[in-house]
Amino acid sequence: MNQLETLISSEQLCFTFPKTRTFDHFKYFTNSIEPFYKTDLGALFSADCMKILPLIRENSIDTVFADPPFNLGKKYGSNTNDSIPDEEYVSWCRSWVAECCRVLKPGGSIFIYNIPKWNILLGAYLSKLGFTFRHWIAIEINSCLPISGRLYPSHYSLLYYSKGKPKTFRKIRTPIQICRHCGGEVKDYGGHRNAMNPNGVNLKDVWSDIPPVRHRKFKSQSRKANALSTKILDRVVEMSTFPGDIVLDPFGGSGTTYVVCEQKNRFWLGTEIDFAKEVVKRLETAEIKSHKNDDFVEE
Ligand SMILES: C[S@@+](CC[C@H](N)C(=O)[O-])C[C@H]1O[C@@H](n2cnc3c(N)ncnc32)[C@H](O)[C@@H]1O
Repeated sequence: MNQLETLISSEQLCFTFPKTRTFDHFKYFTNSIEPFYKTDLGALFSADCMKILPLIRENSIDTVFADPPFNLGKKYGSNTNDSIPDEEYVSWCRSWVAECCRVLKPGGSIFIYNIPKWNILLGAYLSKLGFTFRHWIAIEINSCLPISGRLYPSHYSLLYYSKGKPKTFRKIRTPIQICRHCGGEVKDYGGHRNAMNPNGVNLKDVWSDIPPVRHRKFKSQSRKANALSTKILDRVVEMSTFPGDIVLDPFGGSGTTYVVCEQKNRFWLGTEIDFAKEVVKRLETAEIKSHKNDDFVEE
């Protein structure tokens, strides 16, 4: 019996996956919450996440990954206003963060991707809710514009908290760094090179090896902006879950999280307010390629 099946209680069945897998992460059964799309592993709702999150049973999700709009005045779909007063934005973020925290299982992990300005506040909020700080992961980016009178912004933040002691933390190793030009190793490891693990070095909390989603083969042609590299989700999913666990992403975007979950045999639940059709196309056609990833995951 897998993790999902152990959650089943016949009075609370919500909908059935193909191949008779029953899904029981919802508190209520109502026709209005039929998913827009289902696979054997996941379900996508074409809806505002705040309409769906409150319906999910508490303590039922292994990992949450959230990459919301950053309130930077970017253009999304017609249902997203990415330019609202700061206080309103933070209060909105707190409302979905609180729901995500409620639905996480004890020991489950939550990852929030945002600019440092917002993540510092959201981290403080998670700490206030009693969550355990794990890491502030800096994801290096090189595509920002300089801001007059400020330092050149060169990282996004990936907050990583857990609901108490993490129940799953799998060690990831990354390949020993090679110079792109000469092919030689970049560091000498202080004379300890021969003693190093052949599977690579421990994953750091600064990720400088995340490729931008620039080339057309890596992104949806009808939803080009704001898609993450699959490599980020590879790490989040591998680090915090086992096959058969369930991942929730309330801001589906182009569907990166769901695609990675499908590849890695994780269950997934998602909401996307404007681009559900694009997510379905990505899941069904496999036209959008994943980034190469040479990480090694220890068993
Ligand atoms: C930054 S993008 C996520 C990108 C995604 N991580 C990917 O790799 O493609 C944020 C997404 O959240 C969606 N969104 C905004 N407000 C939402 C809400 N209240 N509920 C659900 N989705 C929302 C937007 O339409 C947008 O596609």
